[in-house]
Amino acid sequence: MKFNRVLVTGGAGFIGSHLVDTMMNRGNEVVVLDNLRNGMLKNAVRWLNHPNFRFVKGDMLKPADIKNAMDGCDIVFHLAANADVRVGVSDTRVDYEQNFLVTYNLLETMRKSDGCRSIVFTSTSAVYGEAKVVPTPEDYGPLKPISL
Ligand SMILES: NC(=O)c1ccc[n+]([C@@H]2O[C@H](COP(=O)([O-])OP(=O)(O)OC[C@H]3O[C@@H](n4cnc5c(N)ncnc54)[C@H](O)[C@@H]3O)[C@@H](O)[C@H]2O)c1
Repeated sequence: MKFNRVLVTGGAGFIGSHLVDTMMNRGNEVVVLDNLRNGMLKNAVRWLNHPNFRFVKGDMLKPADIKNAMDGCDIVFHLAANADVRVGVSDTRVDYEQNFLVTYNLLETMRKSDGCRSIVFTSTSAVYGEAKVVPTPEDYGPLKPISL
């Protein structure tokens, strides 16, 4: 897939920061949108002065922050999330806001954008529930999630 400018949401987090390194090393233009709630700026610090890199500290609960970061991007890798399943079980608002609402806000901003038409979304092993096979193959079933 060929793209010019890439938006990585959650790009200061664990998986996102490795993706950013790969994209930057491939010569892509990369924009990171992260509120640093769980992520760390030090994960992106090596790129901060690079001409192909832009860091936007913003909250995806605010559509204006997404619109700002998405400017000129043609693809989004969406990694911003609450990745801590246990937190979302004890406080369901966390998953509602950080997983569902931010994704809705992102898709709405894409829908209204001029050129950003592609999204790559990481799933989670939580979709399998208590899988009996570990590591779990992608086609494992039935899916019996036990978390939001
Ligand atoms: N870590 C794993 O082993 C693993 C495996 C499979 C899938 N995943 C999925 O990949 C995604 C990323 O996981 P991770 O381990 O990198 O998590 P992480 O917590 O390290 O990264 C998530 C990033 O999103 C940012 N973020 C959260 N809410 C935000 C908001 N409202 N606005 C802007 N930024 C926000 C956080 O600050 C953080 O930097 C999650 O969807 C997770 O379920 C993770």
